[in-house]
Amino acid sequence: MSNMNIDKIKEDFPIFKNNPTLVYLDSAATSQRPQQVIDAVNEFYTNYNANVHRGIYKISEEASEKFENVRTKVRDFISAKSEQEIIFTKNTTESINLVMRGWGEKNIKKGDKIVISIMEHHSNFVPWQQLAKQKGAKLEIIDINEEGELKESDFEKIKGAKLLAITHVSNVLGTLNNVNKLCKLAHDAGAKVLVDGAQSIPHMQIDASAIDCDFFAFSGHKMLGPTGVGILYGKEQVLEETDPFLYGGDMISEVHVEESKWNELPFKFESGTPPASSVIGLGAAIDYLGKLGMENIRKHEQIITQYALQKMTEINGVNIFGPKNPEKRAGVIAFTVNGVHPHDLASILDEYNVAIRSGHHCAMPLHERLALPASSRASFYIYNDKKDVDKLCDGIKEAKKIFKVD
Ligand SMILES: Cc1ncc(COP(=O)(O)O)c(C=O)c1O
Repeated sequence: MSNMNIDKIKEDFPIFKNNPTLVYLDSAATSQRPQQVIDAVNEFYTNYNANVHRGIYKISEEASEKFENVRTKVRDFISAKSEQEIIFTKNTTESINLVMRGWGEKNIKKGDKIVISIMEHHSNFVPWQQLAKQKGAKLEIIDINEEGELKESDFEKIKGAKLLAITHVSNVLGTLNNVNKLCKLAHDAGAKVLVDGAQSIPHMQIDASAIDCDFFAFSGHKMLGPTGVGILYGKEQVLEETDPFLYGGDMISEVHVEESKWNELPFKFESGTPPASSVIGLGAAIDYLGKLGMENIRKHEQIITQYALQKMTEINGVNIFGPKNPEKRAGVIAFTVNGVHPHDLASILDEYNVAIRSGHHCAMPLHERLALPASSRASFYIYNDKKDVDKLCDGIKEAKKIFKVD
């Protein structure tokens, strides 16, 4: 049994008060926000709204201090070594593009090899595909096996690579990749490693130093925080060797007519007015997750996932993708129902106020690999319980009735 009181947790989320029958199963797209996060954003605008790092008046100093405190919270949350390693971006996508522009354009040369996997989200696929084209580099792709796990025999491809860019958790298959092992392999081969942590960080304890990746990218909005803020973690040494990718105010130490000098880390990468209210809200989200305990969250989601896998498998004609063992996956379940198009299923479930995702989930290469035009996806978080899974299963059965499939 999980020791999380889901009914109590739900009370913190105003969306469930305002929409009591809502069964929200799309947290892999974006999570809901607790009142504590909304209050923190509100308090910023109500009491100390000012631009950060600029004014020398009281409220600007307060805003700057609270903003920088969140950097320290993020550092501790992911066990980074210093605040210099924590860069505020807009989202995971921008974090990855920062690495592609600032590190990739500088270091990837003609004939070099970049390795990704077939399960990457477009955010961690397209930048490397485009960089490879631009530089005349090779893009090699680690395939999956029948279980939806990375094919170990393809790890050979990492030999001789300059960069491995890999997701921690697949946003479709739910597969939890052994990034510690992959980092070791890549480093032994002389490659740098970027881990896309968008789907792992909301759900499990992350220790970036232990993973030993060079970069780790994630978004605030999938972990109870506001939209508009993401993080790029980078090892200090590697960030020193990375060029800024956005120029402007705050990222400079000196500007002259002929030349400019960059600010120190992490500010070198933070150009222009940052999303201060979102950063402050992210701080409240980290506090909230910290109180629940990431180990408890992971345990709770494994219980729900196991229950969902079992219940969904019992329904005739439901095909589930990804590992069957909840230890090897996170709470994201992509599936199809024979005879019911994923979009029709999502519409029918919506009539029962059950929100799931349908489509390619920004992972078209993976869907092509699985020979699927689209799939349905249910994803779980701290406010979901077994009753939500039951409602999902009832909806699937209803859809089958409507489409007269057994
Ligand atoms: C694995 C993965 N990577 C990257 C992203 C992109 O995140 P964002 O849209 O916040 O940049 C997502 C979003 O769904 C994701 O699931």
